[in-house]
Amino acid sequence: MQSAEIRSRFLEFFKKRGHAIIPSAPLIPENDPSVLFTTAGMHPLVPYLLGQAHPSGTRLANSQKCVRTQDIDEVGDKTHDTFFEMLGNWSLGDYFKKNAITWSYEFLTSKEEGLGLDPKRLYVTVFGGNEDAPRDEESFAIWKSLGVPEHRIYFMTKDVKGKEPNWWSPGDNGPCGPDSEMFYDVTERGLGDMTKEEYMAADDRQEVVEIWNDVFMEYEKKDGKVIGKLKNKNVDTGAGLERLCMVMQKTDNVFATDLFVPIMSVIHTQATKYDERAARIVADHIRTAVFMMGDGVTPSNTDRGYVLRRLIRRAVRYADQLGIVGGFEEFIESITIKYQEIYPILAEKKETIIDEFTREGSKFKKTLANGLREFEKLSISAISGSDAFALFSTYGFPLEMTEELAIEKGVMVDRAGFEVEFKKHQDLSRSGAEQKFKGGLADTGEKTTMLHTCTHLMLAGLRKYLGDHVHQAGSNITAERTRFDFTHPEKVSREVLDQVEAYVNEAISKQCPVIIEQMKKEEAQAQGVEGSFWEKYPDVVDVYRVKCDDGTVYSSELCGGPHVKNTADIKGRFHITKEEASSAGVRRVKAVIE
Ligand code: SER
Repeated sequence: MQSAEIRSRFLEFFKKRGHAIIPSAPLIPENDPSVLFTTAGMHPLVPYLLGQAHPSGTRLANSQKCVRTQDIDEVGDKTHDTFFEMLGNWSLGDYFKKNAITWSYEFLTSKEEGLGLDPKRLYVTVFGGNEDAPRDEESFAIWKSLGVPEHRIYFMTKDVKGKEPNWWSPGDNGPCGPDSEMFYDVTERGLGDMTKEEYMAADDRQEVVEIWNDVFMEYEKKDGKVIGKLKNKNVDTGAGLERLCMVMQKTDNVFATDLFVPIMSVIHTQATKYDERAARIVADHIRTAVFMMGDGVTPSNTDRGYVLRRLIRRAVRYADQLGIVGGFEEFIESITIKYQEIYPILAEKKETIIDEFTREGSKFKKTLANGLREFEKLSISAISGSDAFALFSTYGFPLEMTEELAIEKGVMVDRAGFEVEFKKHQDLSRSGAEQKFKGGLADTGEKTTMLHTCTHLMLAGLRKYLGDHVHQAGSNITAERTRFDFTHPEKVSREVLDQVEAYVNEAISKQCPVIIEQMKKEEAQAQGVEGSFWEKYPDVVDVYRVKCDDGTVYSSELCGGPHVKNTADIKGRFHITKEEASSAGVRRVKAVIE
């Protein structure tokens, strides 16, 4: 069964069981400063898991694009990839463990409606209990009632390293809860019955792979601690499409599935030296880069742009190792063709992606050989911060690449020294990890919420004084400030910024209620509601309006919240502190509440 059929069977299965099928959110999280990329299907749904009503109802399902780069060093093995699609179904205070587990089992094993997998190859883990929540006897009993033999259901408890298994949370803050994970035996011989210890060893050898996770989200975390129960008992499930393809297509690695075959064949054709790990890294990184660029990320030295840059440069390095000399066009095309039906944006932006990728890749290709030579000279002993910085500034080696090369050689890199050099040379912040700002997914802190409402008002003001071509191109809000990117071709004068500021402050001083209205997407569009990425929203949307009692509407915009209930809750004066270019045709402002 090919990936397209697995995806559509999944959605059809849950649609038949009353779920609204919602579109994949973009890879760049909207209104969430805590992470650089969408890392799980539940991520865009955090406000709803915390209790807000979702416009499409209480049962949802979709296939969500995700990026996780914290395991980038593992890419090249059988199962790790930095981009993946997560199939998920959600209950927002609707059904709970019984339906969730039963449907997971039915979808996995039913030949007619699901995947028809062999129940004898299935293993299940459940939460073994800790100080926050009891052992999950209920899930155990449900699995047993479905016919999964008792000795293949393992209660998992904290291991010696203190890692909490079978408990899922998106970070230190937000909705969380115990989970039940499903594993599938991918060996040819078949593993048969296993004790818990044997099963764990098989997991280490990647002979069983996790294919689905049902999270029972009924708890909430703050600053890393469980603080109590949520308003609703929710279900969040996630099944990695790549891994489902792997088991359905009876391969023992994701790179042999139909999702990767096109790009892997191009790589194998062009490579003059064979190295399977390098080929997998090239395939993985190019695919992720293409998806990031499809959602508007461009290579740079900060945040998302830095992660993208690192992926492209790493792909170039491994392509070089494989003896590939050509350009990147064919690789990129193999991806856009594979995904064009489900993600048309990739085909639409193909030329831009090829151009940008080629520019970034070729620049690095030119300096790679010299950089590697230089590295050889330096790596006789430990690499100092200034040497690592020289490799970065002269040859374009991201720090992590120097570190990777150093590990291969068994020498150390002075990371702290590099950071000092970096700061000295340019006052830019950069980060290789997704986790970036303090706060968290569920950063519904008072200050952040105030700034979020101000950001809506500011966009309305910018549109009023600059024109209707102005739309949001990105936003990043913390408790300290809002950083907002918008489409506009030239510098915005201080006079206009003052006018926009006055517009926002007028709405604050008039103490206007903020109203959420649910309506059909077409209706919202027809009414001129402001929003970007319309195609990414479900049929029914939440419109947030700042509407004063005198009838003046200061802002009306598509959003998922959180916002203040009344502009009177915004304590202080809104002030735009900075305006600058962000990228071609996009301006960036920073603003604070004083
Ligand atoms: N949030 C869970 C995960 O990412 C289930 O969707 O695994």
